[in-house]
Amino acid sequence: MSLVYIHDLTHANGGKKLYENTEIRLNKGEHIALIGPNGAGKTTFLNIVAGKIVPDHGVVEVHPRTKIGYLDQHQDVDGTQSVDEYLKMSFKHLYDIEAKMHKIYEKMAEEYDEDELVKALKYQDSLNAHDFDTIDKKIGNLVTGLGIGIDKLEMKMGDLSGGQRGKVMLAKLLLSGNDFLLLDEPTNFLDIEQVE
Ligand SMILES: Nc1ncnc2c1ncn2[C@@H]1O[C@H](COP(=O)(O)OP(=O)(O)OP(=O)(O)O)[C@@H](O)[C@H]1O
Ligand SMILES: [Mg+2]
Repeated sequence: MSLVYIHDLTHANGGKKLYENTEIRLNKGEHIALIGPNGAGKTTFLNIVAGKIVPDHGVVEVHPRTKIGYLDQHQDVDGTQSVDEYLKMSFKHLYDIEAKMHKIYEKMAEEYDEDELVKALKYQDSLNAHDFDTIDKKIGNLVTGLGIGIDKLEMKMGDLSGGQRGKVMLAKLLLSGNDFLLLDEPTNFLDIEQVE
């Protein structure tokens, strides 16, 4: 099944024609390496797939409900956020549910209420269904595997080096549960072991 189907693609940047009547299918489960010299149009192509650039001509069809993740190492991040907060942003809705659940239990410590208990149990079911309990472990594994170091979790995003920030962005993308990942030079900051 094609997650993305691009056809009749023609696009130029600053008068330089990058693609002409190009067609490509990106299928589920595929790993595609895009190779070309500097300035060939690799980054521009990823931006077109991600919908950040509208091509001069052509059609980009994305299969309904396909979640595309894009690693853009130059994107702005909130420098005041800690690495831990940044990585957990993708799970914010689950942390919100957890907070509501805790609130109910706090209230229940003072006064028992059956309806509220049922609600809290429903929240718990929802968290279980999304493997909420394993988020910290997943983050720990990634942070270790990519060579970021657990000690960096408390650091502010703004205090990281460019290489460290790139790794944290990659970690967040890998945590986000996308159907398709667009990675622009994701291994720049990684050694062989971390790539593996
Ligand atoms: N915003 C822009 N306006 C005009 N020209 C641009 C713009 N962005 C990129 N270009 C030009 O388009 C061409 C393709 O650039 P692109 O960044 O897609 O190449 P690339 O293959 O990713 O190169 P690299 O390997 O250096 O990352 C280059 O000639 C570049 O100078
Ligand atoms: Mg590029």
